[in-house]
Amino acid sequence: MATVQSTTGPVLRSDYQRSIAAYWNKEKDPVNIRLGDVDGLYHHHYGIGDYDQSVLQAGDQAIIEEMHRLETAQADVLLDHLGDIGPQDRLLDAGSGRGGTSFMANQRFGCQVDGVSISEQQVGFANDQARQRNVADRVRFHFRNMLDTGFETGSMRGIWTNETTMYVDLNELFGEFSRLLQYGGRYVCITGCYNDVTGGRSRAVSQIDQHYICNIHPRSEYFKALSDNGFVPINVVDLTAATIPYWELRAQSSVATGIEDPFLTAYKEGSFHYLLIAADRI
Ligand SMILES: C[S@@+](CC[C@H](N)C(=O)[O-])C[C@H]1O[C@@H](n2cnc3c(N)ncnc32)[C@H](O)[C@@H]1O
Repeated sequence: MATVQSTTGPVLRSDYQRSIAAYWNKEKDPVNIRLGDVDGLYHHHYGIGDYDQSVLQAGDQAIIEEMHRLETAQADVLLDHLGDIGPQDRLLDAGSGRGGTSFMANQRFGCQVDGVSISEQQVGFANDQARQRNVADRVRFHFRNMLDTGFETGSMRGIWTNETTMYVDLNELFGEFSRLLQYGGRYVCITGCYNDVTGGRSRAVSQIDQHYICNIHPRSEYFKALSDNGFVPINVVDLTAATIPYWELRAQSSVATGIEDPFLTAYKEGSFHYLLIAADRI
């Protein structure tokens, strides 16, 4: 499977990035694969909204399908915040996983979408999906680093990160997004972040970091780094209450991974938020 290399240097630039790439290259977790198999949209993010209680009696496959519905609902909410996007626009999915949100964006707006991931396995998988869906001319995945994408300055109308910002330095990331976006272009982020108000990184947040080899940022860091890089927030939505039912359902499912308890603890004790931030490039 051929992938497009970054034009600006090696894609993986540190041992840390190599360890993240290795994690995603070998990842075949049923919580992602079985859910994606439901309709061919493969997500690597969490869900939002209430679940239908009847699935608990309806068996394993019904629970899987319900979790997938909540994950797709999350991506729909993200796309709702991108603003007016037309078929002539171009979007970037930064940290695109197996491509689920990119395909939904192309389906909704009819536009070109480029996804980047530091996992070559994911890039190959997502490009295969694009061919199967007959959208390979409009939706393309690249083995590139979102900190240095190699795309042309001002080429993007919108950019999103769906649960990827905890792997990188926010200043570097928003510096690159600021370069890529046109004036007035929109950036939408969904992320977990820790609560500055409750006093530092809680035990549960540290457990999540360890599980995913990531570095969850405090809420304050997002707004500082956005402002420092020419972004003005237009919407901030606290999705914490909306994601708790998903975690409660997942904890009872056959595809639970063991990280459900730290998530539920962190959200319920208030040390962690599930946040959507939409900001415009000025
Ligand atoms: C939790 S998954 C989210 C995938 C996707 N956004 C989704 O919602 O399904 C995190 C993704 O971030 C990617 N990633 C992490 N660091 C990256 C970097 N520096 N550049 C590009 N992708 C990165 C990983 O390869 C993985 O695809």
